[in-house]
Amino acid sequence: MPDPATVARTLYLDLIERCLLNTIYEDDYTDWSQPGVARKFDPLKRQRGLDWPTVAHTMIGQLRLRNLRELAEQALAQGIPGDFIETGVWRGGACILLRAVLKAYGVTDRRVFAADSFEGLPRPNTEAYPADTGDAHHTFRELAIPLEQVQANFAKYGLLDNQVVFLKGWFKDTLPGAPIERLALLRLDGDMYESTTDGLSHLYDKVSLGGFVIVDDYGATPNCRRAVDDFRRQRRIAEPLVNIDTLGVYWRKLIRSPSNGPSD
Ligand SMILES: C[S@@+](CC[C@H](N)C(=O)[O-])C[C@H]1O[C@@H](n2cnc3c(N)ncnc32)[C@H](O)[C@@H]1O
Repeated sequence: MPDPATVARTLYLDLIERCLLNTIYEDDYTDWSQPGVARKFDPLKRQRGLDWPTVAHTMIGQLRLRNLRELAEQALAQGIPGDFIETGVWRGGACILLRAVLKAYGVTDRRVFAADSFEGLPRPNTEAYPADTGDAHHTFRELAIPLEQVQANFAKYGLLDNQVVFLKGWFKDTLPGAPIERLALLRLDGDMYESTTDGLSHLYDKVSLGGFVIVDDYGATPNCRRAVDDFRRQRRIAEPLVNIDTLGVYWRKLIRSPSNGPSD
């Protein structure tokens, strides 16, 4: 029989997940194919993170949200040092879950970093990142959620406090000097080649051995996948990619790779 504290923690986090996904009130969704056009709630899409919910606080779907929770819990259970960060937070849902995990385990010495422009995605910088040529993410206003709205979302769960740090601005500007020493978990959700590369190049060396690197869009956007593959090849990262739900993947950092790894 699990002890009552474990049962309560599990029930709390289960309910947080359902609220974040809004599988409770089942809101409509829109998506990239016809932004702005509302369609009826589709449980399969919400499970797989294939929609842009009109109300729910995350678009990553039930499978990737559960995976995030499990990896965060594993990092805590195994004492992997460091904070948690997501680069690309939208309405904040995945970060709210991370803060809830810390709360559920009574952890007060780790923080959740939420990095975002809070204005949507950048225009492609095709000179520096030719792979992003033609990328239309910056045109989707659905992806631009103001900081105040994200903070209000944290507050709705009673989870807005000084263990949450917002890094507002483009990743290329905020990540290099971010006040982060070590990370137990790095979650990349910036869709584009540039955004994914910025997260990896500025934060990977801060990930502790045993820490997790999660890539939301590996199977969804070819540019994200290319950025991850290029980075892993340049840094000779050999830890295997683990498939989450055919779209998201993660790997566990087990070996320190040379920081300015040989480019090939
Ligand atoms: C797909 S959404 C993230 C979804 C979110 N993780 C969730 O739980 O629903 C992508 C987010 O990344 C942000 N973003 C992408 N590239 C960025 C960049 N280079 N700098 C700052 N923010 C960026 C966008 O503003 C947007 O909020």
